[in-house]
Amino acid sequence: MKELKIFGVVAFFTLLLYWGVEPYAHSQMHKHVESHNFVYDGTADIEEASKEKQEMKKAFWAEVKTIAALKGDAVAGEATFGMCMGCHMDGATNMGGVIPPSLDHAGALYDKNYLIALIKDPAIASNVDHKYPNGTMTHPMGSISSMVSEPQDIANVVAYLQANKSAELTAKEAFTEACGRCHAMRYAKSTQLGDTPSFKFEKDALAHKIKVIEEQDAVKAYMGKLPPDLSMIARARSAHFLETFVENPQSQLAGTSMPRVGLSEKGYEEVRAYLDEIGDPSKPARAIAGPWVIGFMILFTILAYLWKSSLWRDLH
Ligand code: HEC
Ligand code: HEC
Repeated sequence: MKELKIFGVVAFFTLLLYWGVEPYAHSQMHKHVESHNFVYDGTADIEEASKEKQEMKKAFWAEVKTIAALKGDAVAGEATFGMCMGCHMDGATNMGGVIPPSLDHAGALYDKNYLIALIKDPAIASNVDHKYPNGTMTHPMGSISSMVSEPQDIANVVAYLQANKSAELTAKEAFTEACGRCHAMRYAKSTQLGDTPSFKFEKDALAHKIKVIEEQDAVKAYMGKLPPDLSMIARARSAHFLETFVENPQSQLAGTSMPRVGLSEKGYEEVRAYLDEIGDPSKPARAIAGPWVIGFMILFTILAYLWKSSLWRDLH
């Protein structure tokens, strides 16, 4: 009876710690970040903005909403898209800190409202305008806001992207286009310069390595630090953290220089699948092995029980 009381007291305090104290401490030390379900309407940006910037951001996102309601003409948008390709062409080299990403799947990868905001002002759209105290024209894509400024032109080029650059994309393409210009994936043998080729001669391998280091130095100078390798991030961070971080890095890491990447829900799922694939390559094998192992355990239990019964039968 005494033991039972001691057990009761120990169990009570353990559960109190587990369900009471720990969650409370956690909620005080890390504020919970709500997911916005890949809706980009500036709500969080306006809340987080300093007093001087609040009105500007309100007006900015209100305009985005107005443009989103216009009917875009994809055919007319093609000509404007030519201007985008001036920077986003195949084989582009570093421009102000990063290599402009391929836009081959931009219509599927990014959210429509986000694309509108990005063309209006890339620094405000990606929530890094705090890095540009003298105006956001100095953002490496900043000049687009003067090149394409008419609301109808913006609606047209976004309609073009949605109509012509929305083909199915693989998990790897999603990662490369959305994250690869900044983040390497060591375990997938890719760097900020893309997939690392295999070289026959050591000399060529070293020459490539130097190019990678130079590219990383440029990214580092732009971002303030080298963005981390993401090979193992799927294991290091929770699903909730990753989703809300990509949606709005500022919400989890105030002041960070990582820009928001305005992914659509589908785009995020593909990126996430790639992070899982590289970070945890044996996951599919484990998933297949699971039912077999459990089946074996059940079978073994039955056999063990039958064996025990047969041994004891004569003794009873
Ligand atoms: C002056 C060169 C330039 C022009 C013109 C330009 N871009 Fe960009 N774009 C960039 C650079 C550089 C980046 C990478 C910026 C970064 O990572 O900070 C970028 C990034 C992007 C991204 C990724 C954004 C994100 O949040 O990850 C998209 C999408 C994009 N551009 C679309 C467009 C479209 C559409 C146009 C034409 C309407 C366009 N760009 C015109 C240079 C340009
Ligand atoms: C323009 C460059 C850039 C792009 C594009 C970019 N990131 Fe980042 N990322 C950074 C930088 C810089 C950091 C370091 C942030 C810091 O420590 O302040 C970072 C950090 C991270 C972290 C680490 C957070 C932590 O502390 O654990 C994750 C996760 C991440 N990025 C995911 C992504 C994903 C996924 C994508 C593509 C959807 C992406 N990033 C695209 C620049 C970028």
